[in-house]
Amino acid sequence: MRRVLKWAGIVLAGLAGVVVVAALTGYIISERRIAKTYAIADEVLTLPIDAASLAEGQRLVTMRGCTDCHTPDLGGQVLIDDPMLGTFATANLTSGQGSATAAYTVGDWERAIRHGVGPDGHGLMIMPSYEYAGLSDEQVAQMIAHLRTAPPVDRVPAEPVLKPLGRALYLAGQLPLMPAELVDHDVAHVASVPAEASAEYGAYLSTTCTGCHQPNLAGGVVPGSAPGDPQSANLTPAGNLGHWTLDDFKTALRGGTTPEGKVLDPAVMPWPIAAQMTDVELEALWLYLQSLPPASPAG
Ligand code: HEC
Ligand code: HEC
Repeated sequence: MRRVLKWAGIVLAGLAGVVVVAALTGYIISERRIAKTYAIADEVLTLPIDAASLAEGQRLVTMRGCTDCHTPDLGGQVLIDDPMLGTFATANLTSGQGSATAAYTVGDWERAIRHGVGPDGHGLMIMPSYEYAGLSDEQVAQMIAHLRTAPPVDRVPAEPVLKPLGRALYLAGQLPLMPAELVDHDVAHVASVPAEASAEYGAYLSTTCTGCHQPNLAGGVVPGSAPGDPQSANLTPAGNLGHWTLDDFKTALRGGTTPEGKVLDPAVMPWPIAAQMTDVELEALWLYLQSLPPASPAG
């Protein structure tokens, strides 16, 4: 009996040792990835100054979800505050107290938006640049031109805190903590993209949806959401959209109700963002979604 206990003790101690070593290794690997710096050259962008382009920049900043995370006044907010995951706040993009961007050059704006990299070369946390990496020069310039006119807001963001579960999910590829790792930094940017009712333009727009609806748009767990939060819907023809018409799609994204009678909660499915889309954009997105291979949600 005593020998069995002794062996059980050795095995347990061994297991505990393995867990400690694994946790330490995970900690060291993740800290190294978080600390990585990127050397990204300044992009030459000419900012427009005409009123129409600035208005278009404002529309794009809403339609691409910037105001959803950075708040409508662009002063930022606490985005994730979870005892297991950690605390993450969005940056203050105005020139007020607590601003991250007051001293930004045009190159700094471009690096943050399309690369997820801050002025000091460090990766920005949670800022979904993999959704913006493909934005055209023309639209990024319009957005920056508008952002630089934002009235100052005094708001100091909370310091980021990464908790053990957040770290584990990051290591498991389930939390896009460091979006700069997910961006192809060498990809050539297009000067402009024609706004037309085509599946191709729809694909360009769909990067606003893939962050929550998964890269294949088949839906699933929304990254960073709490357990029990609603999963995102399947937008491929295998989901409800397989039975919808273009008009149903427009009604859902402009009014928040679906043909099945579901009322979409804007706090969960930010349809007011999509309501900023023009008829041509909604049709393009619809054509693209309908062209997808029917797929089932992962997991
Ligand atoms: C999913 C939420 C989310 C969305 C959508 C989002 N951001 Fe961010 N953004 C963040 C977070 C979180 C940070 C803070 C990153 C950090 O502190 O490392 C951030 C940081 C930034 C910064 C860097 C500030 C600094 O510290 O130097 C800029 C610039 C920025 N965002 C602009 C934008 C623009 C423009 C858009 C729309 C095209 C956008 N963001 C969309 C979450 C978001
Ligand atoms: C912040 C996360 C988020 C973003 C961004 C987002 N969605 Fe959603 N969406 C959801 C969630 C979650 C649901 C499920 C809502 C529910 O079940 O109540 C949903 C539901 C939907 C539905 C209803 C489908 C059905 O079968 O009832 C449509 C349509 C939709 N989204 C389209 C889009 C499109 C198009 C975009 C991009 C322009 C987009 N969503 C961006 C989270 C998101």
